[in-house]
Amino acid sequence: MEFVVQGGRRLEGTLRVDGAKNAALPILAASVLTEDAVHLTGVPDILDVRRMGDILQILGCDVQHTGGTYRVCAQSMHKSEMPDALSKQIRSSIFLLGPILSRFRKATVTYPGGCEIGLRPIDLHLSGLRALGVDVQEDGGVIRCDGSHMHAGDVHLDYPSVGATENVIMAAVCLPGTTTIHNAAREPEIVDLCRFLGCMGGKIEGAGSATILIEGVKRLHGTTYTPMPDRIVAGTLLCAGAITGGEVELTNVPVEDLHAVCAKLREMGCVLHEEADIIRLIAPQRLTAFSMLQTQPHPGFPTDMQAQMLALLSVAEGTGVIVENVFENRFGHAGDLNRMGARILCSGRTAIVRGVENLTGAHVTARDLRGGAALTLAALRAQGETIVDHAELIDRGYDHLEDQLNRLGAAVKRISST
Ligand code: UD1
Repeated sequence: MEFVVQGGRRLEGTLRVDGAKNAALPILAASVLTEDAVHLTGVPDILDVRRMGDILQILGCDVQHTGGTYRVCAQSMHKSEMPDALSKQIRSSIFLLGPILSRFRKATVTYPGGCEIGLRPIDLHLSGLRALGVDVQEDGGVIRCDGSHMHAGDVHLDYPSVGATENVIMAAVCLPGTTTIHNAAREPEIVDLCRFLGCMGGKIEGAGSATILIEGVKRLHGTTYTPMPDRIVAGTLLCAGAITGGEVELTNVPVEDLHAVCAKLREMGCVLHEEADIIRLIAPQRLTAFSMLQTQPHPGFPTDMQAQMLALLSVAEGTGVIVENVFENRFGHAGDLNRMGARILCSGRTAIVRGVENLTGAHVTARDLRGGAALTLAALRAQGETIVDHAELIDRGYDHLEDQLNRLGAAVKRISST
């Protein structure tokens, strides 16, 4: 599938932001922690979420899905082995390890897949579970976990991994006693997962800080929940306004969680108004380069917005540097931006960008989800037509990005390759 983009249009208008992928995925995984039905609303209709629903069904759960509403009932769940092929397609399948262990005291998973943006090992997930007494055996890409002697305990993460923090929380929420996670990730989606578990009867304190305390409860019960809105989708749409010199208003925005992104957009000359859950952006005709951006775990600048900022920096006035600290191989989109006329020099984790006045339409290829979104943003600004190949990768995290952009006045066509 490809996006065909006619560039050069100024974006203007209002959009409502959908539920967050990175909140919905662990929340769907956590739904199997109870035998009661869980109702979720406002879930984004994106590929990774649908695949997670498929995995839950294969494990024996009853999953019903209409639009943004999911009903998951794990009463009939009987499998503790993750389906091989699907798990390889989404990295978030690893989120099921903690919940399956909690349910069955055993789990078998294969190494997960996902976007090609680095090595993405799962050693932190496994060492966290080992600290809870899980016996983990790795054998030719298959991981067999025996949780018969699981217990609450102290978990120290060497690095604040989002997924590892979530997995340990889900494994521990029903273990008798207190589990403490030290050096936990502080991403807002972790706070959202803990809020959801709280609605199910879980007792968790400290989510959003580096120390999380989990008081194990006997059982969790069903609930109805709406995952938080997607701060990365919101950030991407603000960037679409910014790169086209436009005016964009977004509603249902987790404003507090977007400070790092908004600060950079202001540095580039955009005017932003924040009010309750609404953000308005007014962009100058030409952006100004920031001197330096470094991605960091939250509350630092999110790695999932790095590619989009690289697109913006490509057309800004001046020279700027981006350092990618979270993933070791996340500049795959730079070469394609250069094909469009950008001047980006990458070395290891650093990209040095000399802003150009204009980009030119070209045939480019999405190599990962956010990189694909960044190329689409660049295409909005480029003169002439751009084809973004492999745009199906963008569907992993955006619900019809082309429709959202078109509602703001863009001209993006989805062409299916048959
Ligand atoms: C989550 C997000 C992803 C985001 C990332 C960082 C979801 C579904 N995905 O991914 O969009 O880009 O956080 O904000 O929520 N690492 C290890 N060993 C591990 C685990 C991670 O070395 O066991 C490394 C990774 O290779 C990476 C870094 O830690 O370099 C961050 O990864 P992590 O925070 O775990 O990201 P994910 O949970 O995979």
